[in-house]
Amino acid sequence: MKDFLAILCVAGIVASGCSSSQKSNSSSSPSLKDAYKNDFLIGTALNNSHILERDSVANNLIKQQFNAATPENIMKAEVIHPGWDTYNFDMADKLVEYGKKNNIKINAHTLIWHSQLPSFIRGIKSADSIKTYFENHITTVASRYDGKVYSWDVVNEALNEDGTMRNSVFLQKLGPDYIVEAFRLAQKAAPNTLLYYNDYNIESPKKRAGALDIVKKIQAAGVRIDGVGIQGHWHLGTVPYQHIEESIEAFGKLGVKVMFTELDISVLPNPLRGNVADVGSRADNNGANRGNPYVSGVPDSVQNALAADYAKLFQLFLKHKDKVSRVTFWGVEDGGSWLNDFPVRGRTNYPLLFDRKFNRKPAFYSVYNLKK
Ligand code: XIL
Repeated sequence: MKDFLAILCVAGIVASGCSSSQKSNSSSSPSLKDAYKNDFLIGTALNNSHILERDSVANNLIKQQFNAATPENIMKAEVIHPGWDTYNFDMADKLVEYGKKNNIKINAHTLIWHSQLPSFIRGIKSADSIKTYFENHITTVASRYDGKVYSWDVVNEALNEDGTMRNSVFLQKLGPDYIVEAFRLAQKAAPNTLLYYNDYNIESPKKRAGALDIVKKIQAAGVRIDGVGIQGHWHLGTVPYQHIEESIEAFGKLGVKVMFTELDISVLPNPLRGNVADVGSRADNNGANRGNPYVSGVPDSVQNALAADYAKLFQLFLKHKDKVSRVTFWGVEDGGSWLNDFPVRGRTNYPLLFDRKFNRKPAFYSVYNLKK
């Protein structure tokens, strides 16, 4: 019934009971990808349900608003390479088809990351076997999708907050040159795909210095790196605009593109220190639901503050559009955001531009109106 109503809405046959996104296929509907078409790509993160087009409302909204997408989980090693000799390409193949059909550029995420690894990795003790895994994984997965995906996050989150290298299984077994090697293998396997380094908080000066070193090291080795993804998991009222601007300029000077790859702005109290987006971090609900104040709705004052933060951010992105090639939100609408479960499980967050009913929020219009 819900789907049937959605079809009538989209076709313009009925209007009452339709969300604004359903009414949206008319040409007058405000679309971010259209508004920003001369500036940079506008992306979203897709989950299984989106890729399988299970919900027509979500499906219409995605096609209307976004021209880039990153799979939220299905191309991570634990899903795509679950056993030593076993690969599971089913959903990733479907994603490629979905992108082709809908003119959406796919940023594949991610080849080498310490998190969401298949469990068999924990059983591997020898450096040689990790090396074989590393080479097989990159070569097999990246070559399969060469020319089919637009870009790869080749390495994700290799840095500590102080800019030193994270003590991951890859650093331990392969040594500090593993990042250059990952890009070298990716370049060979995927000559027609853009290659990126991606991390959170690399706008902050110390961690940024570590990321700049990574880019320089890859370039000095004569290996290709096309861009850097700043994840952009920020918090209402504390978005680090100055650091963001300095970072766009610093990465830009190295001749690589800058992307904001996992943008969301949490409106809830932050129990972690700073903009940590380490999926391994967990925190409590702070007793008596004090960490979850908007279960039954978010006040206008918060909506407006969110709209103001997003407007300032996009003003900055537009100012540097010669260097910024994509801005991707980490999710389609508030209800599907990972921030409802991170770093505290079961909260009600409001970090994106579309609400739980897929309607445009004030933050949507504050971003859209910059281009009117
Ligand atoms: C998150 C997903 O959104 C969740 O569904 C999953 O449970 C954990 O990972 N940085 C990244 C993303 O690079 O891959 C993470 O995605 C969020 C932080």
